Amino acid sequence: MVKKIDKSVLFFKPWITTEDKKSVLNALNSTFLTFGPKLEIFERSFSKMTGAKYAIAVSNATSALQLSLKAIGIKKGDQVIIPDMTFVATASAVINNDATPVLTDISEDFNISTKDIERKITDKTKVIVPVHFAGKSCNMNEIMKIAKKNNLAVIEDCAHAIGTKFNGKHVGLFGNAGCFSFYPTKNITTIEGGMVITNSKKIADYIKSSRNHGLTKSLQRRYEKGYPWEYDVIEAGYNYRLDEIRSALGNSQLKRISELNSLRRKASRYYNSKLRLVEGIIVPEITNDDSCHLYIIRIQKKFGESRNSLYSRLLKSGIQTTVHYKPLHKFTIFRNNKDKNENYPNTIIIYNEILSLPLYPQISRKEQDRVINCIIN
Ligand SMILES: Cc1ncc(COP(=O)(O)O)c(C=O)c1O
Repeated sequence: MVKKIDKSVLFFKPWITTEDKKSVLNALNSTFLTFGPKLEIFERSFSKMTGAKYAIAVSNATSALQLSLKAIGIKKGDQVIIPDMTFVATASAVINNDATPVLTDISEDFNISTKDIERKITDKTKVIVPVHFAGKSCNMNEIMKIAKKNNLAVIEDCAHAIGTKFNGKHVGLFGNAGCFSFYPTKNITTIEGGMVITNSKKIADYIKSSRNHGLTKSLQRRYEKGYPWEYDVIEAGYNYRLDEIRSALGNSQLKRISELNSLRRKASRYYNSKLRLVEGIIVPEITNDDSCHLYIIRIQKKFGESRNSLYSRLLKSGIQTTVHYKPLHKFTIFRNNKDKNENYPNTIIIYNEILSLPLYPQISRKEQDRVINCIIN
């Protein structure tokens, strides 16, 4: 029988090791299945890795953003500046706090445009939410300067940026808080999961309580002193807890973050070495400070084929690619704000040119060569 050769290249493949599986099984055998010691270890390890005073694990990055905004006192009528080019969760975290996202143009590096941030500030603006897009840090010096000048808070969306640094400091530590995602495609995964890092005790305490129904004490703490039912509830909270199984997986994955990121970097640099020579293709600049969450090229006129046509041609050859992201202002939910394409000139140009190529730590040279050859020929 002739063996069928699978020539497909998936956009992403998760990497769950035998060690990861052992950690998960071990967690299933423990007394605490949620909100226990494995969560605390995960938080301690994450705060050590980033250098944050506090790391608070939650159910996903969307809840991390929602609670961080709530922690700094966002309320109805407030405006929050976010990039037009991001996943919708950056905006829904604002909307679900009854505040208004103000969509902002991006720069050539796909990050929020600081010039457009300044243009969008009004007397209702309370917060800037920069997204470290694809794992490359925003210019946090410029953003913090604007924030200080205008007395604004900054909540960093670090969903793409586990391991990303700016001037030697982990992202998420420049503003009031930083929010991370552990969704399966992210640089480490807990399947679903998120983390807030902050140096503010006030923000940390608020999120620790609000993620757990607003209770002032966790189950473990309640048995340490006094009666376990003697907790208080100051404000209605949420159930945004991360369970012990996910925390155990997070602990196990986090041990490999340097390896995972350096494999992503290596694969991204390999793409760069071949694709930067192709006329009409712009490749990303890669530094050791980037988490290389996504590998995004720009397809320009000189390439002689549109982005959409290249996408279809790759798919026909079994190669999955995608676009990060369709700009937010194009969604029905944002139509009411009367924003038109011309308000986001860079975003529109970039959106029509970008293509995210398959990238994950274990991608092989053979798979990358298939992608590269298919693009070139
Ligand atoms: C930029 C950005 N922010 C927020 C999120 C939300 O993350 P989660 O799925 O963990 O809620 C994502 C998820 O892909 C994202 O890409």
